[in-house]
Amino acid sequence: MANIQLLEKDTATSPSPSPSPPPPPSSSKKKRKESLGWIEWLRGWMYVIYEMLFQRIVASHLQNPLPLPPVDGLTCIVTGSTSGIGSEIARQLAEAGAHVVMAVRNPKAAHELIHKWQSQGSGHGHGLPLNIEVMELDLLSLDSVARFAEAWNARMGPLHVLINNAGIFSIGEPQKFSKDGYEEHMQVNHLAPALLSMLLFPSLIRGSPSRIINVNSVMHYVGFVDTEDMNVVAGKRKYSSLVGYTSSKLAQVMFSSVLHRRLPAEAGINVVCLSPGVVHTNVARDLPKVVQAAYHLIPYFIFSAQEGSRSTLFAATDPQVPEYCEYLKSEDWPVCAFLSQDCRPSNPSEEAHNIDTSLNVWEKTLEMIGLPSDALERLTRGEEITCRYGDKSRTSTLETTS
Ligand SMILES: NC(=O)c1ccc[n+]([C@@H]2O[C@H](COP(=O)([O-])OP(=O)(O)OC[C@H]3O[C@@H](n4cnc5c(N)ncnc54)[C@H](OP(=O)(O)O)[C@@H]3O)[C@@H](O)[C@H]2O)c1
Repeated sequence: MANIQLLEKDTATSPSPSPSPPPPPSSSKKKRKESLGWIEWLRGWMYVIYEMLFQRIVASHLQNPLPLPPVDGLTCIVTGSTSGIGSEIARQLAEAGAHVVMAVRNPKAAHELIHKWQSQGSGHGHGLPLNIEVMELDLLSLDSVARFAEAWNARMGPLHVLINNAGIFSIGEPQKFSKDGYEEHMQVNHLAPALLSMLLFPSLIRGSPSRIINVNSVMHYVGFVDTEDMNVVAGKRKYSSLVGYTSSKLAQVMFSSVLHRRLPAEAGINVVCLSPGVVHTNVARDLPKVVQAAYHLIPYFIFSAQEGSRSTLFAATDPQVPEYCEYLKSEDWPVCAFLSQDCRPSNPSEEAHNIDTSLNVWEKTLEMIGLPSDALERLTRGEEITCRYGDKSRTSTLETTS
């Protein structure tokens, strides 16, 4: 077990226990913020550069691989587990004895990985079969997300940990939209994981105490969300893959913060966002070849996938994490728990503290993913809700009643 004092106050990184009071409700006359202020933007890039340069020093207290507490009996869904950080998370959890569900868009690749891990025989009980399975999930299709949740909920079993890891950063690519009509970064990195988390509530409640873990990024510090232009098409901001990626990661922190605050304690579900660090994975697949080569030349600064999996594994399994989330709630802290790559609590960006925008992101997201505005309240009361996506004719705990 890594010796990490999550609840110990770290004034440099943990949120102040007495946050300043929330701003007054926005009046219609208040000018809408249209981008980050330049000081916020500059500070954001400083965080990003700091993480790139010093993550190895800052995380030098962590063992690699991170020793895990007992996970036997835990059921964990890991999205995007065919590559990079996600495949490390799935392998380590399964080898430690958890029941792992690889939620992937390429089931064949997942089966090949399982075969490889199994034949290496280094896992739980040294050679015992891993308790791991594969289910298809394409985050570029909200129908696929809803069908996945329907199939999982229909088992009527518990879910203890949902790890929303899958993500894209299509560096340098032109703007693309999913068949649902949403900008692809926003859909894969925020909207689809939000829908998955909400629709899996019945199973998360059955598994409570349970956790929703969102693999976020330090890049959210330079993100800005315009809730009137989630697709970045209005021309107010020029689209780039950086804008798409950073906005989607900030939207995830904002949505998670409202979810964290509104979740009643009785539901027993905690929400955590985290940064894995700067990690050498396939996320760089779209970079020019010369930049990819540079990645290999600077191994000192960049984490391996195994190092990059530590903050997620910590968030998913450490017994102090739920206590920390409860502490933030009791202090009325406006944002959800955010762990940095060194597994310590950290404060999300200044913009993530914008309560008005977070509420707008919450409402807009529910609308975009086809859920009613009172979905959370109804789900936590155990009621059924209607979702615009998925096969509505199927029998499931989420089948429509209205
Ligand atoms: N690497 C970094 O430096 C870094 C830094 C900060 C945050 N992150 C975050 O860490 C997470 C994992 O990224 P990674 O670095 O491990 O990248 P990666 O190696 O590219 O892995 C991304 C995973 O997401 C899956 N995925 C992509 N689109 C999908 C879709 N439409 N439906 C289902 N799955 C999909 C990929 O599936 P395929 O294998 O089928 O392509 C892959 O398994 C992401 O959320 C990323 O934003 C990474």
